Amino acid sequence: RVIDARGRYVLPGLIDSHVHFRTPGLEHKEDWEHGSRAAVVGGVTTVIDMPNTVPPGLDEAALCAKADLVAGRSLVDFRFHLGADPQRPELLAEVDPSVATSAKVFMAGHHTAPTVVRDAEQLEKIFAHAAAGNVRLVLHAEDEAVFDLLDQWRGTDPQEYSDYERWRPRTGAISAVAQVLALVRRHGTKTHILHVSTAEEADLLAAAHATGLPVTFEVTGHHLSFIDRDTLRGGARTRLSPAIRGQADQDRLWTALYSGEAATVGSDHAPHTRTEKTRPIADAPPGIPGVQELATAVWTGMRRRRPDEHPDVAAGRLARCLGAAPADLFGLPGKGRLEPGADADLVVFDPDQRWMFSAEDVRSKCGWSAYEGWSMTGRVLTTIRAGEVLWDDERKTFGPATGRWLGTR
Ligand code: DOR
Ligand code: ZN
Ligand code: ZN
Repeated sequence: RVIDARGRYVLPGLIDSHVHFRTPGLEHKEDWEHGSRAAVVGGVTTVIDMPNTVPPGLDEAALCAKADLVAGRSLVDFRFHLGADPQRPELLAEVDPSVATSAKVFMAGHHTAPTVVRDAEQLEKIFAHAAAGNVRLVLHAEDEAVFDLLDQWRGTDPQEYSDYERWRPRTGAISAVAQVLALVRRHGTKTHILHVSTAEEADLLAAAHATGLPVTFEVTGHHLSFIDRDTLRGGARTRLSPAIRGQADQDRLWTALYSGEAATVGSDHAPHTRTEKTRPIADAPPGIPGVQELATAVWTGMRRRRPDEHPDVAAGRLARCLGAAPADLFGLPGKGRLEPGADADLVVFDPDQRWMFSAEDVRSKCGWSAYEGWSMTGRVLTTIRAGEVLWDDERKTFGPATGRWLGTR
């Protein structure tokens, strides 16, 4: 079997450090068979999965049980973010790094997160214990009070509601980031802010990082791809938390990616069923699938925004924010870099192919994509993990579900 990589890039297998693959308990939205197939079609060979499941992944026992459930079902290697439990913040002081190196804090979550930390004192304890346990916190930084306001809005004129949703207070995200920065300053906790959506958050975080605080951030493929205008068209489908913002915010997120201020790009792959997403916007759960679309969408954006940039530079950026950077932040030796001794996780990527993303391309169990009808530039041709071909775009064939848990017990 010969793989022809002439005129293509060979990149390290990509790492998506932010997916919701919905096991256990929410397998009607997504499961690992579908989610990990979507991943390899998108060039992703390692994922880090979120804990807002049923039951949630709030302790080591829950993560080990989840590893057992996923074993034999995943094409990609996997790790889990532990969920920070506001009732048991002390657990964070003694997390075995071979089980998890990071813990997710939902400062908001609406109905998608069972363990929202609303209380300032609880949040402070979480930061203190995570610092003691050398655990990196990954945060959904939004003010839950914003969602309470939204709930009060429910039942009024749907158009009004949809306008409110569209302009959903950016201040909720900005104030939460400011609150987090004060905690990082006090406790020195390693902190990674997820899905930064506004210019102000990026400014605050870049300034804090420059003063030496151990704080980094992620931008998502969605926030780089869509703006509020698309949300008006997409309705409930493009509803997510934090909301899609306007052009100026999106431009600032791209600047953060180009400058290296944003360490990682994640998909925040958060599938919900078609039925859930055809409800009126106020009743539709927030979240969009994206692990499959992520690398191509970012590549498409880079080629559109800087058509004169040498593609080698763009490819290097992709390999950094979806490879080396998440590998370093989350302790994934052998991943994210092409170097002697690294795992044989590789992607053959055609930088020039133009194609249209259509509903039939969707591999996620949810069966829909916010990118349907999008003109894409660049295409994943072959995905290899541990030397095994897991996706062949020409033959449309998958390899076996031999992905490994990158933790141990
Ligand atoms: O849009 C979102 N979807 N934001 C979240 O914080 C949770 C996620 C989900 O799990 O559906
Ligand atoms: Zn989130
Ligand atoms: Zn998420």
